[in-house]
Amino acid sequence: MANASQIEIRPLKSADLESAARVHLAAFPESALTALGLESVRRYYDWQLTGPHDALAIGAWCDGEFAGFCFGGVFRGAMSGFLQRNRLYLAWRVLTHPWLALNPLFRNRLVSGLNIYRRFRGSAKTSTTTKPAAQPRFGILAIAVNPKFQGFGVGKQLMQVSETAARERGFTLMQLSVNTENFQAIKFYESLGWQKSLVQEIWKGEMLKPLAER
Ligand SMILES: CC(C)(COP(=O)(O)OP(=O)(O)OC[C@H]1O[C@@H](n2cnc3c(N)ncnc32)[C@H](O)[C@@H]1OP(=O)(O)O)[C@@H](O)C(=O)NCCC(=O)NCCS
Repeated sequence: MANASQIEIRPLKSADLESAARVHLAAFPESALTALGLESVRRYYDWQLTGPHDALAIGAWCDGEFAGFCFGGVFRGAMSGFLQRNRLYLAWRVLTHPWLALNPLFRNRLVSGLNIYRRFRGSAKTSTTTKPAAQPRFGILAIAVNPKFQGFGVGKQLMQVSETAARERGFTLMQLSVNTENFQAIKFYESLGWQKSLVQEIWKGEMLKPLAER
């Protein structure tokens, strides 16, 4: 099985996205995106790779086999842009798989996705400026490791490379959102020095990692 020295990290190319989508399906079996199928997931990551973002998209290979990936950086419309670019494909997907609408998780995500899309369209029509964040943050949009390779240091290496890139780009803060019941991922992040960020003493899944100067 993999050990740290056999793990190779390199930038993702478009040709790697189908492998990334397969890992997404295996690592997030219950996500709404997974329910839409492999090609929808591939298109989601294609938007993150080719859209107008300042992103770092990296993959991990163990003995030549694709093992995991991480998308980090500053994303502009990670969800709204994906929905916009693929609206016809996604509409067709839902229409030809109507049972998806019966899945409450999928329905909730679909409604929140459509709300994001509507807000995005509304703000694109009415506003030409975007408010800068108080402190620019390097976000971790997605990280996933094939279950077969989990627990062997792949995720840790992906995060270390992302963190190094964030420092090199001048960021002093990293940020991510995690499902508050994803205890495996929470332990993973905490082991790497991430802290829960509370709002009025309630934790809704945001985690931060300040990047101290070295
Ligand atoms: C979370 C995830 C990316 C971690 O990747 P990984 O390759 O399995 O993690 P690593 O082997 O690099 O673990 C690094 C450290 O995290 C901690 N860790 C990882 N998995 C853990 C678990 N299940 N329980 C407790 N600690 C864990 C350990 O401290 C480990 O360090 P150590 O091996 O030196 O003790 C991976 O489990 C995954 O893909 N999960 C499903 C998708 C997901 O939830 N992604 C995050 C969404 S926000």
